This record gives sequence, C-alpha cells and structure tokens, in this order.
Amino acid sequence: MTTQQPVLVRVTTRREQPAVSEATIPPEEVALETRKLSVYYGNFKAIHEVSVSIRRNHITALIGPSGCGKSTLLRSFNRMNDLIPGARVEGEALFHGANLYDKHVDPVSVRRRIGMVFQKPNPFPKTIYENVAFGLRLDGKRRSKAEMDEIVERALRGAALWDEVKDKLNKLGTALSGGQQQRLCIARAIAIEPEIILMDEPCSALDPVATLKIEELMLELKKNYTIIIVTHNMQQASRVSDYTAMMLMRPDRAGEVIEFDRTEVIFTNPKDKRTEDYISGRFG
Ligand SMILES: Nc1ncnc2c1ncn2[C@@H]1O[C@H](COP(=O)(O)OP(=O)(O)OP(=O)(O)O)[C@@H](O)[C@H]1O
Ligand SMILES: [Mg+2]
Repeated sequence: MTTQQPVLVRVTTRREQPAVSEATIPPEEVALETRKLSVYYGNFKAIHEVSVSIRRNHITALIGPSGCGKSTLLRSFNRMNDLIPGARVEGEALFHGANLYDKHVDPVSVRRRIGMVFQKPNPFPKTIYENVAFGLRLDGKRRSKAEMDEIVERALRGAALWDEVKDKLNKLGTALSGGQQQRLCIARAIAIEPEIILMDEPCSALDPVATLKIEELMLELKKNYTIIIVTHNMQQASRVSDYTAMMLMRPDRAGEVIEFDRTEVIFTNPKDKRTEDYISGRFG
C-alpha cells in the first residue's frame, strides 16, 4: 500500500529536528516520526519525550534494559496502547504528515497500515489458510475464491512459509512448529499489505535455527516494508537492523531514547558511554 488514504487527516506542524537523532534521514524517506512522544499508564509516565525518525524500507531496532519502555514505545507507533485501559499519549507520531493521535484518525485503519507481530506466536485456532485470510475478510471488500487463494499464497511465500505448508493449508495453524507459527503470523500481517511492521521480540520464543530464518526473512521483507523490531539480542540487532534506538530509564523511571543512530555507529562508536556499557553487557 503506497498511496495515501483519506483516513488520516493532514496537520501542519513546524518541522523541528528530532532531539536525539544524529542520523540524518532524508525527509522523503521518513516513514514515521515521533515528536516529543510521551506515554503514561494512569499517573505513571512510562515514556519521556521520544523524538525519532524511522526510515522507510529499513529496519530500526529498539534496544535497552527490561522495563525501559521498548514495548510501550512500539505500541505507540500504531495506537496499540489505546487498547490498554488508562494508557495515554502526549506529543505526536507523524505518518504521511498526519498525527496518528489526531482525534479524527481511526485507530483501526492505523493498525491496518502499521501491522504488528508479537513475542509469542499467536495464530488463531483456525486453518493455516484462514489465519492468513483473516484480515482480508474484515475489510468489507468482496473477493473471489481465486483472488483470496492468490493473496494467501503470496503472503505465505512472502513469509517464507509456502513450501512448508502448501499441502496442508486446511490444517490448524496452531499445529505448526513455533518458528512456522511466527512466520504464519508474519504472513497474516503482510496479507493486508501494511506499510510498516512492528515486531516485539519476534524470536525470543524460537530456537536459533528458527531465529535465523526470521532474520533472513526480515532482510527480505524490508525491500517492501519498513520494519521496527524490539530485541534483547544484541547480535540480532547488529545483524539485521540499519538503525538503532538505545533506550534507558530515567531516574523518574520514564524511558527515553538516549541515542539514535545507524546501527554500525551504535555498535562500534556510540556517543553515549551508557550505550557502550549496555551493548557490551556491562549492565541491563
Ligand atoms: N499495561 C500496563 N499498565 C501499567 N504499566 C505498564 C503497562 N505495561 C507496561 N507498564 C510499565 O511501563 C514501563 C515500560 O514497560 P514496557 O513493557 O514497555 O518495557 P520493556 O522495555 O518492553 O520491557 P521488557 O524488555 O521487559 O519487555 C514499565 O515500568 C512497566 O511496568
Ligand atoms: Mg517488552
């Protein structure tokens, strides 16, 4: 999906440089940009004024110690936090020039365009075919069986799962291995052709072989999608991502991005000593 859709309302805001971004991303290549984005759970501030730019058709990793707000920040990129009672967002998340948090924006359409894959593979208790077709059945468009078959096959091929499941599309998705289930969830996410895919520790429940498969898949997917991944695995971040946002908790326990740069810079020449300490395993 590359064309703009009417669901998002244009807003005019002054362009200002992200506070922590040292990496210059050409403005026309920015897929998503936050400006002083803060997230609260009730009175608790979980995220403090994050300003980052996400580059289209690249992979951005969010890293940092447990509890620093990685999942919270990731969920704020597609209004998934709306589903948590008491969660509230301040600041802006700009997508095609519109603030996702503008009151006219429909969160359901946001989530169609910015999809999500979770830590634990969560296929529905339905057939492999129906898992992939699920999102397509919700958009109200009529499609012939042949069209559906084609989209399902394309999504499964895109998720590098087709060859393993093509003879058992009517078997339960939940009966697949963990790694296959995660690729099925990726197929489900890409079937509706989002622009951005958010992944929250997508490999943490997988063995090293399945993990490598997902990593290879991500490198393939970035040709067509923008990917943001939360990972605790430093090798994974350095292997797959192009940009890295290093997050830490402030003394008031709100998480912030302390450094954002190209991944090779973060891993070889970070500007902040705390980033160096974290990636070299000295804390966290
Ligand atoms: N639903 C919620 N309600 C209230 N507080 C929450 C909720 N989810 C997260 N928090 C709090 O927000 C902060 C950030 O949590 P978050 O899950 O985003 O961290 P994280 O970096 O993803 O951690 P981990 O690496 O352990 O997954 C933590 O202090 C957490 O306790
Ligand atoms: Mg998390």
